[in-house]
Amino acid sequence: MSRLKGKVAIITGALGGQGQVAVRRFVEEGARVLASDLATRANGEVAALAKAQPEVVAYVGGDVRDSKVVEKIVKTAVKRFGRLDVLFNNHGIMVGKPFLETTVEELDDLLAINLRAPFLLSQAAARVMAKQGNGSIIQNSSVGGIVGFPTMAAYGASKGGLAQLARSMATDLAGFNIRVNAICPGVVDTAMPRRYVKDIEDKEGAFKQMAAMHLMNRLAEPIEIVNVALFLASDEASYMTGAVIPVDGGLTAI
Ligand SMILES: NC(=O)c1ccc[n+]([C@@H]2O[C@H](COP(=O)([O-])OP(=O)(O)OC[C@H]3O[C@@H](n4cnc5c(N)ncnc54)[C@H](O)[C@@H]3O)[C@@H](O)[C@H]2O)c1
Repeated sequence: MSRLKGKVAIITGALGGQGQVAVRRFVEEGARVLASDLATRANGEVAALAKAQPEVVAYVGGDVRDSKVVEKIVKTAVKRFGRLDVLFNNHGIMVGKPFLETTVEELDDLLAINLRAPFLLSQAAARVMAKQGNGSIIQNSSVGGIVGFPTMAAYGASKGGLAQLARSMATDLAGFNIRVNAICPGVVDTAMPRRYVKDIEDKEGAFKQMAAMHLMNRLAEPIEIVNVALFLASDEASYMTGAVIPVDGGLTAI
């Protein structure tokens, strides 16, 4: 249980469904973690960990659309823990709207949160990692960044951009021994798909339909995505960079 021993990781979207699990698993594997999310104060498992082990888990709240928040997240990680080895850009929002009905505000928000913020967080983190001569950056993209889905044009564009950002960053950062990869989950059982079906009358039917898009005929558990992030964060993935990895129960295989 020490695959991340000695490493310092930033995890954004840390209070969300995948984020909470990521913080717990990274800590269990020996990492010190700077967790960040929108809420001013941590809650749930992250708050409990930060209270019990303040030398291992710290929390910074704020909206990553704000470049000052981005700067604060990276600076706090380095100040508290002395280095920075891993950035897991896990925060994100989803808007499901037919293309012709998507507003410019919705598009701007999706791009600001899902693409611009990971770009700026990656840039700030990579500047620290470049000086150290090592690092792993993981972008939580989506199958929506690989294939097209109805009502997902703006979300898909933001996540496709994020996957491409990983490939392109990998080419610029390989010389600094910084690896950059993207994970593309299928539908994960978190608040995100539950928000998507909130206005649909037959929620159970909608979930069955979502499940049926995957060869495994079910949604992913957050841990099944986090396991891949953990691997990419660790030295076990030392020869992996520029990869865009579907973790999707076979959705993109069909
Ligand atoms: N759940 C899915 O089906 C699914 C599928 C593919 C990809 N993803 C991606 O996985 C990642 C994690 O999502 P999740 O499933 O845990 O959903 P979630 O909604 O539980 O978590 C997302 C987190 O991001 C945070 N966030 C949103 N906007 C923010 C902002 N402006 N500043 C700071 N934090 C902000 C939220 O507060 C939330 O805690 C996201 O990037 C999402 O797009 C999710």
